[in-house]
Amino acid sequence: MPDTNTLSSTASMSERADALEDKMARDLDLIVIKSRLHMWAEGDLGPSPNAGLLKRDNPNATVMMGDDPRLPKMPEKPTLVDFFRHRFGPAMHLLQSAHHARKNGLPEKLVLACLLHDIAVVGFIRGDHGYWGAQLIEPYVDEEVTWAIRAHQVLRFYPDESVGYEYPAAYVALFGEDYKVDPYIEEDYKRMRNHKWYMSSRLITMNDIYSFDPNLHVELDEFVDIIGRNFRQPEQGLGYDNSPTAHMWRAMIRPSKYL
Ligand SMILES: [Fe+2]
Ligand SMILES: [Fe+2]
Repeated sequence: MPDTNTLSSTASMSERADALEDKMARDLDLIVIKSRLHMWAEGDLGPSPNAGLLKRDNPNATVMMGDDPRLPKMPEKPTLVDFFRHRFGPAMHLLQSAHHARKNGLPEKLVLACLLHDIAVVGFIRGDHGYWGAQLIEPYVDEEVTWAIRAHQVLRFYPDESVGYEYPAAYVALFGEDYKVDPYIEEDYKRMRNHKWYMSSRLITMNDIYSFDPNLHVELDEFVDIIGRNFRQPEQGLGYDNSPTAHMWRAMIRPSKYL
């Protein structure tokens, strides 16, 4: 039997969303339609908002195909630094991890790996963030960097006594005592454990600062040189260089583009 509470809260949620969309159309002269993924994230399985109906109710509005005025404007040829400044928010966790990596004397490319290890969390999709993050930057960095970033989310779940890495206490608190990783993580761990770059990824987990330290403020400027030497910034800008992941960068530039 369906849970009526769930049904009614779903209905009111989508009603609220419709009202908000309607208001945005009136205020911005723009009709903004979210991707299905964003709707599911709200537990909303209802039909996609009907752009035609919204247009009929707001005849002066157009469906958003360009920049979203609610977000900072990106330069025409965005660099990685522009994404940090205009999209990723404070990203202090990444800056702190990279700062520690540098202080611990890691090679530059692994400092970069620490700086970008959670790029999917701050800029794209959280679940499987190591895989998404690695894919995003694959065309622009050394293979070892992407391998290490992809693997860090898997290795984070597995202790390694030889380097003093323990299962994070934060995970016990966040996921519960009985949490078990998904089988594909288990499979990937077996593959990753014996890989030649295992330790590069392990070093990310060791410099992955578990909790935000309010007393340590780190500026992105500290890493601009390292980015310059280790991230192949495309001349045309991220998103417009025809790389296999350019569309993913464009999704961060215009996350609610209609088509
Ligand atoms: Fe991570
Ligand atoms: Fe992290």
